[in-house]
Amino acid sequence: MNKFLLGTNWKMNKTLTESIQYTNDLMPIIEKYPQFEFFIIPSYTHLWKIKETIDAQKSPLKLGAQNMHQEDFGQFTGEISPVMLKEIGLDVIELGHSERRQYFNETDEAVNQKALAALKHGFIPLICIGEQLADKNYGVSKEMLAKQLKIALKDMPANAISNFWIAYEPVWAIGVNGIPAETSYVEEIHNFLRTVLIDLYGTIGQEIPLLFGGSVNKNNASDYARLENVDGLFIGRSAWEPDLFEELMVLV
Ligand code: G3P
Repeated sequence: MNKFLLGTNWKMNKTLTESIQYTNDLMPIIEKYPQFEFFIIPSYTHLWKIKETIDAQKSPLKLGAQNMHQEDFGQFTGEISPVMLKEIGLDVIELGHSERRQYFNETDEAVNQKALAALKHGFIPLICIGEQLADKNYGVSKEMLAKQLKIALKDMPANAISNFWIAYEPVWAIGVNGIPAETSYVEEIHNFLRTVLIDLYGTIGQEIPLLFGGSVNKNNASDYARLENVDGLFIGRSAWEPDLFEELMVLV
């Protein structure tokens, strides 16, 4: 049985000093909530130092990167490889966030290649999917999400102790201009995603953690968290300060 997951993507925010301070402040907080599994996903440049900070306290806090190239080495200027991230000792690799899809042309096929590489190197791929507002308005959210999920998971083996996580983040709900999703909508989509995972993996599909993200805040966190097929929350702004993050932990 997986613990309920609570994690935060910092996006392109925080200096190194701020990142270390955050990590030092968060670690004693999470000790009060052993029912949850926590992860943070800072910028690449801060990962070594944050890993040292976590290890110094022997904290169970998991650490992830926001992206990864699929090749081990090569002529890919500006990219970071799984081998490099493995040296740091990361746990999680976030892949296919809608901001990467929108601003860096990341495709479903690329997410699939990266996810396979992440798994091969022993990371937990955290695969993000989400429909655009237009998809929702045209009533094709489920078709779009099934396509994203099936391509991202092509040739991905799953085992009983889930070795990858899925985050559903409707694009229209993310960020400062995001509109928080209705709980009933999140329920409907997560139930649907579960059926897709069961179609793909049989009973193991029940065990694959499905996280929800996009304007998770104090007003909606507990409603989302109690849904049967929501196995975690993937949080941006509302977890960018440890005390704000704790306000959510209390509610979940
Ligand atoms: O990856 C999590 C993120 O996209 C959600 O951001 O700020 O809407 O909670 P936010």
